[in-house]
Amino acid sequence: MYHRLPAFRSANGTGPGSCYHCSVGHVGFAPFGSWGESVMRRMKGLVLAGGKGSRLRPLTATGAKQLVPVANKPVLFYALEQLVEAGITDIGIITGDTGSQVREAVGDGSAFGARVTYIPQPAPLGLAHAIITAQAYLADDPFCMFLGDNFLMGGIVDHARRFAESSCQGQILLKHVNDPSAFGVAVLDDAGRVTQLVEKPKEPISDLAVIGVFFFGPEVHEITPRLMPSARGELEITDAIQGLIDAGYEVRSSLITDQWVDTGKKDDMLEANRLVLATLKGRIDGSVDHASTIVGEVVIEAGATVAGSTVRGPAVIGAGAVISDAYIGPFTAIGASCTLSGCEIEHSIVLDRSIIRNVSHRIADSLIGREVVIERSPLKPQAIRLLLGDHSSVAVI
Ligand code: DAU
Repeated sequence: MYHRLPAFRSANGTGPGSCYHCSVGHVGFAPFGSWGESVMRRMKGLVLAGGKGSRLRPLTATGAKQLVPVANKPVLFYALEQLVEAGITDIGIITGDTGSQVREAVGDGSAFGARVTYIPQPAPLGLAHAIITAQAYLADDPFCMFLGDNFLMGGIVDHARRFAESSCQGQILLKHVNDPSAFGVAVLDDAGRVTQLVEKPKEPISDLAVIGVFFFGPEVHEITPRLMPSARGELEITDAIQGLIDAGYEVRSSLITDQWVDTGKKDDMLEANRLVLATLKGRIDGSVDHASTIVGEVVIEAGATVAGSTVRGPAVIGAGAVISDAYIGPFTAIGASCTLSGCEIEHSIVLDRSIIRNVSHRIADSLIGREVVIERSPLKPQAIRLLLGDHSSVAVI
């Protein structure tokens, strides 16, 4: 049985530093470091890859929003890699309607050095509902819940270690944001302890947003079954954390300065893309002809060809893409097997197998889906002709 050390209460009366599930003074017997080590060994990951993805439609009308790529890698993969980097290799993935795509992309987890268990959630009834859904898998082990659409620079190694070595039952990450109304928000007391959490408050109560990486002990399972759906019909994670606090458990917070993006919208995806590409190390595995110019950090994947073009990094050109007579500007990720000719594009993401041909205006700040065709039409009269899915958005000049 996994037991957290008591934070500021001693339910069995054995006093501070003793486990409240049994009368053993764990701290007295084991050096702090080895306690942390044993907790780390038991820690599981719970990655949330269900939900609706309505803010990224039409891109996510049929596809999982967690599989939209950042620098040509699904955003979900960053979460998996960061869990494994922190030593958490036993990972449950919550899936919804797009579960088969997630399974196909992640497989059994061995490509990440992880062992993955898929946990279908019958409906996207909230983050705390996802914990209830995963309860049998999580058993009484500590776990790190990572939202599959959250992108965090800097990883979670230090946060995981801090939680493992602590005596608290919950740990959240917080960041100052300009628009707290879009997030769960936390209020801290003078000692930095979390006292209150509110989901997407209309009236600002603090500018500290709750980031999508949470650490919990098994005590959270005492709270989740008692939660009631919020106004948006979900069992909220903020209510679960508030429940832990109200029950007398300790929830710690870490104020992070690392860059964090909740990749729910187009500009958030572009920002995550920009952050990753800013750290890119150039590599040319494809072919570049003599009439082309490559400037700065550029990755050209195997099978990609660049002819008569300028690619100004940081940028990544996916495997098998064909770039000719084109300008690919900074902070651009071109997916696999795309064809770009007679066009200019920068600060954009283009997903696999799309075609952009003979477009006179430079494309910027754009997120273009799979198998999209954008081309100059020879038809008269000259006009913009569109076939767009529901919820598409086009800015013309
Ligand atoms: O991004 C941080 C925010 O994430 C926090 O500040 C909020 O407190 C927290 O409630 C959450 O808010 P969102 O409204 O952004 O959560 P969203 O519905 O986007 O879901 C987050 C991830 O979890 C996403 O990858 C979809 C997945 N999910 C969501 C729900 C509701 C599931 O797997 N199952 C679900 O039932």
